[in-house]
Amino acid sequence: MKIGIIGAGNIGGNLTRRLTALGHEVSVANSRGPQSLAALVEETGATAVPATEAARGAQVVVVTVPLKNVPDLPAGLLAGAAEGVAVIDTGNYYPQQRDGRIDAIEDDGVTESRWTEQHLGHRVVKAFNGTYAQDLLERPRPEGDPERIAVPVASDDEAAKRVVRALIEELGFDTVDAGGIDESWRQQPGTPVYGLRAGVAAVTRALAEASPERPADHRA
Ligand SMILES: NC(=O)c1ccc[n+]([C@@H]2O[C@H](COP(=O)([O-])OP(=O)(O)OC[C@H]3O[C@@H](n4cnc5c(N)ncnc54)[C@H](OP(=O)(O)O)[C@@H]3O)[C@@H](O)[C@H]2O)c1
Repeated sequence: MKIGIIGAGNIGGNLTRRLTALGHEVSVANSRGPQSLAALVEETGATAVPATEAARGAQVVVVTVPLKNVPDLPAGLLAGAAEGVAVIDTGNYYPQQRDGRIDAIEDDGVTESRWTEQHLGHRVVKAFNGTYAQDLLERPRPEGDPERIAVPVASDDEAAKRVVRALIEELGFDTVDAGGIDESWRQQPGTPVYGLRAGVAAVTRALAEASPERPADHRA
């Protein structure tokens, strides 16, 4: 599959490693430009591109930049993507440590992924936001393995959600349908499922136990 990855840090770098190893055709971008990604290209065989070109022809695009940088992404980022492109959003809001105050999230109760959708002008599939970057490399397991981790996946785009769930399963993780984007607070930072390394049953339970109240240490 043709996959564009925007953000080449902890998550973007490791997804580039895993997805190229599985034989996918990966274009990867960061903010500093393709020349700064020479080592990752050398290691993985991915193609480094400017962010404006990362989505070109892609069936899946991963947006994996700090939330505060989402508004800096170029307009028309997804313009050249394949029809029906599935856009994975791995983002989290860390107001105190990194992102500063985002009024729509703090005051209006907009979910983090809805806010990102509004900036991208495109529906997203929220996935991997509670997965440790290192687990992408170290904890894939075959289907049926009792230690296989489950990843919650939320989206309003059911077709894109199916594509992303299949890709996550190919990466060595189970998935749990976490509903739509208005419900995706269930997997945001501070919830029981966030950072949980567990299988389908425990992840399903943790999603159900979440409270919509944003914890104080996750507020500005
Ligand atoms: N780290 C984790 O374990 C983890 C786990 C789950 C979810 N997340 C979430 O996933 C997101 C990414 O996290 P991360 O830890 O991978 O971040 P990171 O290591 O800080 O990397 C961020 C990447 O985004 C790029 N970037 C920033 N602004 C950009 C722009 N305007 N255009 C293109 N690229 C841009 C950076 O490029 P430059 O370096 O060139 O600036 C860098 O490659 C965050 O929202 C985070 O909360 C992280």
